[in-house]
Amino acid sequence: MIQEVEASINGTRIHYVDTGDPSARPIVLVHGFPFSHEMWSPQIASLEKELRVVAYDVRGHGRSDVGDGQYTLELFVDDLVGLLDHLKIQKAVLCGLSMGGYIVLRAIERNPERCLALVLCDTSSQADSNEAKLRRAASIKAIKREGVKPFADAFLESAFALKARNDKARLLMEEIIESNSPSGICGTLLALAGRTDTTATLPTIKVPTLILVGELDRITPPALSQRMHDEIPSSELHIVANAGHLSNLENPAHFNECLLDFLNKRR
Ligand code: MLT
Repeated sequence: MIQEVEASINGTRIHYVDTGDPSARPIVLVHGFPFSHEMWSPQIASLEKELRVVAYDVRGHGRSDVGDGQYTLELFVDDLVGLLDHLKIQKAVLCGLSMGGYIVLRAIERNPERCLALVLCDTSSQADSNEAKLRRAASIKAIKREGVKPFADAFLESAFALKARNDKARLLMEEIIESNSPSGICGTLLALAGRTDTTATLPTIKVPTLILVGELDRITPPALSQRMHDEIPSSELHIVANAGHLSNLENPAHFNECLLDFLNKRR
């Protein structure tokens, strides 16, 4: 049974699971916005047989504290590094999906010495365009006016490739978004709008890197992954068939096969 744990990291209660073989190579899973570590359930079940698996709730999400709701991406990276310190993990495979990818890309830019390998899923190194920043501002206004539900419905509509294909995953994601607090979600929208662009760092990444993207991802389309693959010297790119933005949930079998194959080759 997976143990759910909490730690005080940078003054905030961070909720996480730490499972698998404690003496094995560690992998840290960083979820997308506005979800929680639960989105990694299909990966935790297969990774924990061979690795030490840590999956946590980014502050403002899941069961981690919301705090004052004033977040930056830098603070999210401080929390990731703080959690590694707390767990006495010097180096880990850092794996992030979408927002999680923004976090691990900035983490390797700031602290390359903490990273054994990178896994970038349905993400991008690019900062928000002006249009994207305006969309985030409009979402904040709408959430304050109407609550989280309409935002969750619209977001999941664009995140999932085919609404009917994976109803169970969609329902789980709906529940997760709606149980997150409006101020956590709005604070994260501000952090995402204010994040830096990490594209210039890509050619300097020295660790093996796996890039995964759903073939039908409309939020961070495959062209963005192709660009990262072109820039990161030791990277490999796999397109996850029949999947949109949440490729790990929409086609877990293909996603896990690519991930395990990459990890086994890079022991
Ligand atoms: C995510 O899935 O983390 C979000 O789509 C990221 C974003 O809104 O940029």
